[in-house]
Amino acid sequence: MLEIVDVVVSAATANDLTAIKHLLSDNDLPIAGVDDHWKTFLVARDGERIIGCGGAEAYSNAALIRSIAVSAEYRSRGVGRIIVRQLLDRLSSHGIREFYLLTTTAQEYFKRRGFKKCDRDEVHPQLLASREFQDACPKTAICMHLLMQR
Ligand SMILES: CC(C)(COP(=O)(O)OP(=O)(O)OC[C@H]1O[C@@H](n2cnc3c(N)ncnc32)[C@H](O)[C@@H]1OP(=O)(O)O)[C@@H](O)C(=O)NCCC(=O)NCCS
Repeated sequence: MLEIVDVVVSAATANDLTAIKHLLSDNDLPIAGVDDHWKTFLVARDGERIIGCGGAEAYSNAALIRSIAVSAEYRSRGVGRIIVRQLLDRLSSHGIREFYLLTTTAQEYFKRRGFKKCDRDEVHPQLLASREFQDACPKTAICMHLLMQR
């Protein structure tokens, strides 16, 4: 069994875009908006291979966490947890404390990461223009919110 120590999480580069999109498609997650926001993305690599990713649509006061995916054979080893943690830490180091996400499949997973279900009309107005809110995510997706303490 592969140990987590073999997996390295780091900032994505432009060369990673194709692999990120494949990973998202394989996991039925939207790729709309990735080209505009890839600079916020982190990737998890096992050697050369990208086996996990996560990103955000970040605005001045709030960010939409999106595109969290880990290849099936690497799951349940903490890779997703590390990607989410590092994303939140990086965004909060830029002064962002308010985080949202939309999910159809992973409400319980993000609840364990501190997110709470919220109504769409509670979402920070900066995020309502994002691709995920506009059209990429199904209207039935659950909205979740995390406010990081200062
Ligand atoms: C959600 C996902 C990123 C988690 O990645 P991971 O690296 O396996 O996660 P971690 O190792 O940090 O956590 C694993 C734990 O979360 C649980 N978990 C994983 N996916 C879950 C889900 N969708 N709902 C609830 N719990 C989930 C596992 O059962 C495991 O529980 P355990 O620690 O009690 O054994 C991964 O399952 C995935 O890529 N899923 C498909 C894409 C997806 O739905 N992404 C979320 C989009 S909003």
